[in-house]
Amino acid sequence: MGSGTIQDPGYVRDAFARIADRYVTTNHVLSLGTDILWRRRVARMVRRWKPSSVLDVATGTGDLALEIQDACPEAEVTGSDFCAEMLTHARQRGLSRTLVADALDLPFGDESFDVVTVAFGLRNMASYPEALAEMRRVLRPGGHLLILDFSLPEGILRRPYRWYLHRILPKLAGWLTREADAYEYLGGSIEEFPMGEGMTDLMTGVGFARCEARPLTFGVASIYVGELDSEVRNP
Ligand SMILES: C[S@@+](CC[C@H](N)C(=O)[O-])C[C@H]1O[C@@H](n2cnc3c(N)ncnc32)[C@H](O)[C@@H]1O
Repeated sequence: MGSGTIQDPGYVRDAFARIADRYVTTNHVLSLGTDILWRRRVARMVRRWKPSSVLDVATGTGDLALEIQDACPEAEVTGSDFCAEMLTHARQRGLSRTLVADALDLPFGDESFDVVTVAFGLRNMASYPEALAEMRRVLRPGGHLLILDFSLPEGILRRPYRWYLHRILPKLAGWLTREADAYEYLGGSIEEFPMGEGMTDLMTGVGFARCEARPLTFGVASIYVGELDSEVRNP
């Protein structure tokens, strides 16, 4: 496994298939439960948009989709992911609509959803602009995209956090999952992932309007939101 990179789709799928059984617990331990609060916050934001249909891309074990399902009982929530093993857990945990699908080639028609979300998934994809353009394609005019992912804190916290990210987290995750390889690239992928304006510029570049970045927990994670203008149609 060591020869893959985190943005190599075969490597990513295989890595998540191997940790699927331990993914939820490992996340909660490594983030000291903060990831639950981040996803709840996202679900509350989604509820404010009153969607009838939501697609959670790269839904994995369904953590975010399930929060949205609880927060928006009137909405049809679909979770898609290209790793069938992760989706098995999502279904067992109560996500009723799941679909094995590559985020870069979604099997949905244009303008199918009111809201598209992606949590800790975009960072692993082979092309950020292509993935964002595909999410835009399946969104209705006036719809919202919400991205939740890791970022790096600014200022005094950045150095100790990087030390944790590169030195402690891979060891801890390796011990918890017995699959250290799968976490080897996490720190590097976070370093390379666009954050703040870097991400909002990417979103604007594929046609989203009013893009905003909101740092969470000293900037360890961020929420990015963008909207499609109501009169805009897919090209
Ligand atoms: C870190 S997990 C995040 C899961 C979930 N969204 C969460 O918040 O816990 C990343 C997920 O992205 C999925 N993924 C990565 N690249 C993908 C792609 N191109 N298409 C579909 N799923 C992808 C992986 O299979 C994995 O389940």
